[in-house]
Amino acid sequence: MYTESQYKRYTVTTALPYANGPVHIGHLAGVYVPADIYVRYLRAMGQDVLFIGGSDEHGVPITLKARKEGVSPQDIVDRYHGIIKQSFQEFGISFDIYSRTSGKTHAETAAAYFRKMYEAGQFVEKISQQYYDEEAGQFLADRYITGTCPHCGSEKAYGDQCEACGTSLNATDLIHPKSTLSGSAPVLKETKHWFLPLDQYEPWLREWILEGHKEDWKSNVYGQCKSWIEAGLQPRAVTRDLNWGVPVPLKDAEGKVLYVWFDAPIGYISFSKEHTPDWEKYWKDKDTKLVHFIGKDNIVFHCIIFPSMLKADGSYILPANVPANEFLNLEGDKISTSRNWAVWLHEYLKDFPEKQDVLRYVLCANAPETKDNDFTWKDFQLKNNSELVAIFGNFVNRTMVLTHKYADGKVPAATRMGTLEEQTLQELKIFPERIGRSLENYRFREALAEMMNLARLGNKYLTEAEPWKTVKTDTEYALTALHVSLQICANLAVLCRPFLPFTADKLSRMLHRKDCAWTEAGDAQLLPVGTPLEQPELLFEKIEDAAIEAQVQRLLETKRQNELNAWTPAPYKEKVAFEDFQKVDIRVGTVLECTKVPKADKLLQFLIEDGDKRRTIVSGIALSYPEPEKLVGMQVCFIANFEPRKLKGVLSEGMLLSAEDKDGRLVLLSPSGKVTPGASVG
Ligand code: 2FM
Ligand code: ZN
Repeated sequence: MYTESQYKRYTVTTALPYANGPVHIGHLAGVYVPADIYVRYLRAMGQDVLFIGGSDEHGVPITLKARKEGVSPQDIVDRYHGIIKQSFQEFGISFDIYSRTSGKTHAETAAAYFRKMYEAGQFVEKISQQYYDEEAGQFLADRYITGTCPHCGSEKAYGDQCEACGTSLNATDLIHPKSTLSGSAPVLKETKHWFLPLDQYEPWLREWILEGHKEDWKSNVYGQCKSWIEAGLQPRAVTRDLNWGVPVPLKDAEGKVLYVWFDAPIGYISFSKEHTPDWEKYWKDKDTKLVHFIGKDNIVFHCIIFPSMLKADGSYILPANVPANEFLNLEGDKISTSRNWAVWLHEYLKDFPEKQDVLRYVLCANAPETKDNDFTWKDFQLKNNSELVAIFGNFVNRTMVLTHKYADGKVPAATRMGTLEEQTLQELKIFPERIGRSLENYRFREALAEMMNLARLGNKYLTEAEPWKTVKTDTEYALTALHVSLQICANLAVLCRPFLPFTADKLSRMLHRKDCAWTEAGDAQLLPVGTPLEQPELLFEKIEDAAIEAQVQRLLETKRQNELNAWTPAPYKEKVAFEDFQKVDIRVGTVLECTKVPKADKLLQFLIEDGDKRRTIVSGIALSYPEPEKLVGMQVCFIANFEPRKLKGVLSEGMLLSAEDKDGRLVLLSPSGKVTPGASVG
């Protein structure tokens, strides 16, 4: 390793995504792309790595989704685990194992972990009062209770949070709590739970994190740990009253399961067990470096709670680093599964087949390493067209085409090395170390930019050496230039692999060479003279405006849908007496004529047969009825006893009744069957 390494092997974990939805670009940029780059680099350095992933299949959100859809939680996790696993695989996330927490090994491992801690007296038992639904016969997790928020009055607050005002709540804070299972008012009932006494770990956490990792953990991670620790740690319940999860392995714990955040990180261990009988060396040998890749919302669990559990057991190593990322937004707005505001990986793979590396590139270049960042489709197009195509792809393509044209498609000898060549190859040498150092320090954006600088170096060299010109006057020099360019291409094939594995494969195939170790890169002899090259293929293709426009339109449609979904009916008006209602004379009439009122965009002029005479009514519904002539013959309801008034010069003798839909469209009210004009409505 370029920086001093005391480790013999690496265990790299990625946050287990909840199997209640597919994965999106936020997950990828925050966790899976950087983790995969790191692991691929380590492997290229010849390191022994175990790369763990899997689905988090327990927890209340999964049971809620199952309820909503009227299926079982197992159906939900089966569906999404399948989608997630396949999309990761197609995207080239090179897990050694991608498993799931509903598996047997996991249940046994998590239960044994709990039991061992229980037997060592490492939990505190507490009896507390919790809401219970007497009709449904079960305790209610926070998300199963709604009620009125004591802070903002919203009637849709949950037992753990009010989404209207963002306040964290306890279920007992809610005014008029209601069970979402039966709709009844829940009652408080005693229940026993087991707590991890985090307060007892505080002195150790201070020493281990605040003193021990001040320098090497990212400042966002260190900062969050510091504020948690300094706010004072409280005991945390590690069990729940729920029927979905790993059952608590104790006699007096009927109907209780391990809290999802207790069992999920143990998944890293159980999946390692599933992968290899030799798993212990990846978890119990101090020469193993354990690294957790996560998003910022998981920091407390991976830096404080899970390490305390590992420490309690005593036989495990602790994470050496937890390079958590901030969040990625989409087109300036927070990514949200419930609002469908996301670019879903499985959909991307369908819409952009064979373009895994473009997304990997854009997400790494925009990775929210130190602050939240934004993904836009325009930037995606720009990065593809003006970086991958114009710099990397263009350099490789020029080199390949020229070699086929002037050197019979074989690596030519370098017989005329000049100063430019010497300098270029000198520069080439430093790239593996420079990129490696950035990767070892979790600076993935910087590493990617350096890799692209190597492609830039190639382009610059080729432009200066001009073999297409010199071939006419100095063939040997032109061939030397191609030799040098080809060596840069071969180095790119090695050094781009962690970031762009599909491109690395394609380029290696074109260059007719097997992959080599990272440490062999930097060398000007990666491609032996005489190596026959394949025909050039484009590594990247331009993405046209139409493809981007289609994605932008899809998001606009989502936005429109969300606005509609957020619609609530206008507040109901005050009560009125029946006698007052009776004062309004509502009648049915038949439309005889209907035309637009000149110079008034919103107005239509109706001639109505009202049973007694013909009357003119002007109505502001023109935008909802672009073809007014089609209304002729329709029966409508109108208020007959308003004082006539002039609208844009036309005297209107009444008002048509219409309903305003949530998108603002006005729909005329009409009797459901034919009636005689003039019939009263009441
Ligand atoms: O935040 C999440 O999506 C969690 N499912 C992450 C779990 S990570 C681990 F501990 F399993
Ligand atoms: Zn509120």
